[in-house]
Formats: sequence, structure tokens, C-alpha cells
Amino acid sequence: IMATTNKSFPFEIRDVEPEQVEKLKKSFQVTMNPCTLRFGPKGYLFPREFEHFGKEIYNMEIRPSDTFVVTFPRSGTTWTQELVWLILNNFDYEKASETPLSVRYPYLETEMFFNHNQMSAMLNGENIKKTMEKNMPPVQKILNMASPRYIKSHLPLSLLPPKLLDTCKVFYVARDPRDVVVSFYHHSKFMNILLDGVDFKAFWELFINDLLPWAPFFEHVKEAWRMRNHSNMLFLFYEDLSKDLRACVRRIAKFLDEEITEEQIEKLCEHLNIDNFKKNKSVNFDNLNDSGLLNEKESFIRKGKVGGWRDYFDEEMTEQADRWIEENLRDTDLRFPQ
Ligand code: A3P
Repeated sequence: IMATTNKSFPFEIRDVEPEQVEKLKKSFQVTMNPCTLRFGPKGYLFPREFEHFGKEIYNMEIRPSDTFVVTFPRSGTTWTQELVWLILNNFDYEKASETPLSVRYPYLETEMFFNHNQMSAMLNGENIKKTMEKNMPPVQKILNMASPRYIKSHLPLSLLPPKLLDTCKVFYVARDPRDVVVSFYHHSKFMNILLDGVDFKAFWELFINDLLPWAPFFEHVKEAWRMRNHSNMLFLFYEDLSKDLRACVRRIAKFLDEEITEEQIEKLCEHLNIDNFKKNKSVNFDNLNDSGLLNEKESFIRKGKVGGWRDYFDEEMTEQADRWIEENLRDTDLRFPQ
């Protein structure tokens, strides 16, 4: 008997509305598996492959020594991952530079998005295929990794194992959705997953209509916000990291019960400075440059600004955003720091 028969995945699964399927078809390249299903009461959007991978993930065994960094995409994941890893690994900058962040911190749910045949056909050669495999390991490999495991996920807490917070440390990072959507747009261009003609405004429409994977955005953030006082949860804002990184480093070290000197903080902040980070081959995905997958006009680490959205929103979108944010913050005391 296969073990899968005992696994529970107690979520209602709905088909995406037909008009929305059409909209998605007109927006995304076929290299990414199409998002056609909504999971659970909040209706998180994923490809149908998530029925399988989501179940594996939901049932994975969590170890007390695990460390999770969880975010809605483009909210400050990479930054936080590196920061946390260095504090927990005795500031081993050498190891950090030798081992890509994506290998140190496998990205849990990545496997569901690839159309492997399409992708393989696009990749330039065997070497790059090996690099891809190392940087984007399949779920099973992540689950069997040796301790201590560092795991990156964009899944909302409700779709992660129910015992997660009671077992290990979890960092959740949130960011103003207007900066998130700009960053997500550029990232989608970087990954070449958008069809021609999908401009920022069209992408914004997708975002506020919950038509991007991991959407709805606010439900994602609010789930974590509700758990912010759990002793194993550290809830961070991108805006706070940006405004006072030193204070955030101290807060993170305290949460991890790690002593940290002023000198160590100084060096760490310098290491994490966006100008250095952009050039850091261990975090910037330069190792996939030759893959043929990525758009050379874009980059993984980009501007790193708070409020950069103002250059992208016209008056109509600004008003739309105001309304959308207000509606979604009505039932919560969550506020994004300015
Ligand atoms: P922008 O596209 O607005 O520049 P994630 O790591 O969750 O994918 O988030 C990516 C966003 O974080 C990008 O935002 C990226 O530039 C920014 N970022 C990454 N490293 C950073 C750093 N060291 N300092 C400031 N911002 C950083």
C-alpha cells in the first residue's frame, strides 16, 4: 500500500472560472504550468499539479531544527534568507559565497510550476540542466534533506504542515502590495513567463483579481499576521528591513537566541547592502545566466526601493489600489509601515 493513501489534504479544490482561465491563457507562457485550480476556503491559485505536491508538502514531517522563510513572492525573501542563514551559521561568508542560496535553502513548492518537457527543450545543454536540478530540487529531495534544513516557501501558512509553527522557527516577510506587484511584474519578465503585450497595467489587473499564483495576496499576509505573536514566528516587514536593517538584525538575532556583536552587525549589513547583494553570485541567479531561460534585460535582485510603485501607477490605478487596500485592511490591524 502506498503511503500516499494515508495523507490528508483537507482543502476544497475548485476550478478557476472559465473567463479567468481565458485571461490566464492570454497572459502566461506555456513554460509554466497553467494555474487552473483554487485551493481551500481562501481560493489560493495554483496549477493542478499542486493537488499532488501540495499534499506531499502538507504532510511533510517538520523537524525542530528546520528554519522556514515564508513570504508572498517578491516581499523580501532572499534578503531575509541570507540574513538568517548567516546568523545561524556563525557568519560563514565563505560557505555562503560557495553555495548558492537556492541550494542552502531549497524552494519547497517549485516543482509544480515546471512543465518539464518544455523547460528541458529550452535549456542550453547538459551542464545547465544539472545546475537547474541542484538549484531547484524536487520536493522529495527537499523532504529527505539532512538537518538542519533551511526552507524557502511562498505558500500561505494554511497550506503548510499544521504542526509547522509548533515545531520550528518561521520567518514571514510582508511588503506593501504595490511594491510587490511591480517587483513581481519585473520578476515575471526576468523569468520570461509573460506573453508579449502583458504590460504592467495588465499585470496589475491580474494581481488585484487574484489571478497570480499564491494569490489572494491579502489573505496570505493576514494568515501570517494572525500568528505574529506565536513564539516560533517572527513577522517582518520589507519596509522595516529597508528603513533600519541594523535594528532588524538585532531583532532576528534575539529571536534566534544568538549573541551578535556590533562588528558582526556592521559586516552583515554591508554584505546585505543592495549594491553588494546585486553582485553576489550566490544569491543573484547568475549561475542560470546561460540557461536560455532568463531575460538578460532584467535581474533577480533589482532596485530594492520602498515606494517605487509610484513610477508605475497612473491615477486610475492609484485610486484602485487605495480602495483595494482599504477594503482588505478593514477587518484587521495590519498596516504596512511607510
Ligand atoms: P524590487 O524588485 O522592488 O527591487 P524576493 O527576495 O522575495 O523575491 O524579493 C525580491 C525583492 O527584494 C526585489 O525588490 C529585490 O530587489 C529586493 N531585494 C533583494 N535583496 C535586497 C537587499 N539586499 N536589499 C534591499 N532589497 C532587496
